Amino acid sequence: TKTVGVLTSGGDCAGLNAVIGAVTRHAVDSYGWRVLGITDGTLGLTAVPRQYCELRPERLSAPLLHSGGSFLGSISHGEPGSGQQLVDRKEAFADGARKLGLDALVAIGGDGSMRILHELCSHARLPMIGIPKTIDNDVPETESAVGFASAVQVVSDALDRLQPTAASHHRVIVVETMGRSSGHIALHGGLCGGADAILVPELRMDVESLIAHIRRVFSSGRRHALIVVAEGVRAQVAGLGPYESVGTWLAQELEKRSGIEARCTSLGYLQRGGSPCAEDRRLAAIFGLRAVELLANGNTNRMVCWTKGAVLDVPLKAVITGPRKLEKNSPLLAAARGLGIWLGDDAD
Ligand code: F6P
Repeated sequence: TKTVGVLTSGGDCAGLNAVIGAVTRHAVDSYGWRVLGITDGTLGLTAVPRQYCELRPERLSAPLLHSGGSFLGSISHGEPGSGQQLVDRKEAFADGARKLGLDALVAIGGDGSMRILHELCSHARLPMIGIPKTIDNDVPETESAVGFASAVQVVSDALDRLQPTAASHHRVIVVETMGRSSGHIALHGGLCGGADAILVPELRMDVESLIAHIRRVFSSGRRHALIVVAEGVRAQVAGLGPYESVGTWLAQELEKRSGIEARCTSLGYLQRGGSPCAEDRRLAAIFGLRAVELLANGNTNRMVCWTKGAVLDVPLKAVITGPRKLEKNSPLLAAARGLGIWLGDDAD
């Protein structure tokens, strides 16, 4: 029998508990393995004493399974460190894995976590399977990660709520989304929620051209507009600090330059919280099962992925290439353009 560790790493999102549940159920019920839930990402393995608990499928049912967050805890690891700090971290991790008698680790994380955990597991000679999760949907080699669809739903719902207030006051409302350096949430959420303009980091923002678009909307007889801006667009504004809101900046700039009243709503962590939508529950089940199957077949050091309507897996090495950006030829970008949504210009 095997002992398999499961942990969640990096920013939380909806669907993590459903993934933990699927992995545990399949591993215990189908293979009779022991599953240990590691607390707070790798901290549960590196801390002394180690922090973990044995997971049992019968205790992992609704509502826990369908609740937001990670009941194991999830911390952002930052960089793996360097020099002696990295050596110590790798040793503590390997030691923790040995003490718990782990034969393998299922790590549920984003692209940064995949990179760090691959490094730690390689050092510990601990076979690993990665399951992609992130609201940003920027993990390479997978079209979808757990948590993304739920975050998109939050953005879309927010626009539904903001439209009537924008209309009542003849205002522009700017909605700032998360997404780090990628525009996936902004594009998907903006399209689903009927935004008039969507600003993503992959395309260049030109405020004058945006104002011209908003004026066209107003002169067409509809005296309000919704704009979605991804937080990563902040990098295009000289002088904005890493924690300053690009949405607030944009609303102020629009109002100043156009005279049209503009306000900003920043959705922030609302996009990470809440219960997973149906799509994320489906992905959680499919990914969890595939991860256990890979372990059962001894096919390790891979990440499960969703590609062209099928569950597949790729070597972890292929994933650690940095965040996946929106592709210029993305069908959704084309659809948004086709619907008359203002998107900015190609950055190059
Ligand atoms: O990667 C998920 C994410 O929510 C990003 O969209 C956002 O930029 C970041 O995490 C926020 O991280 P923190 O939890 O460190 O504030």
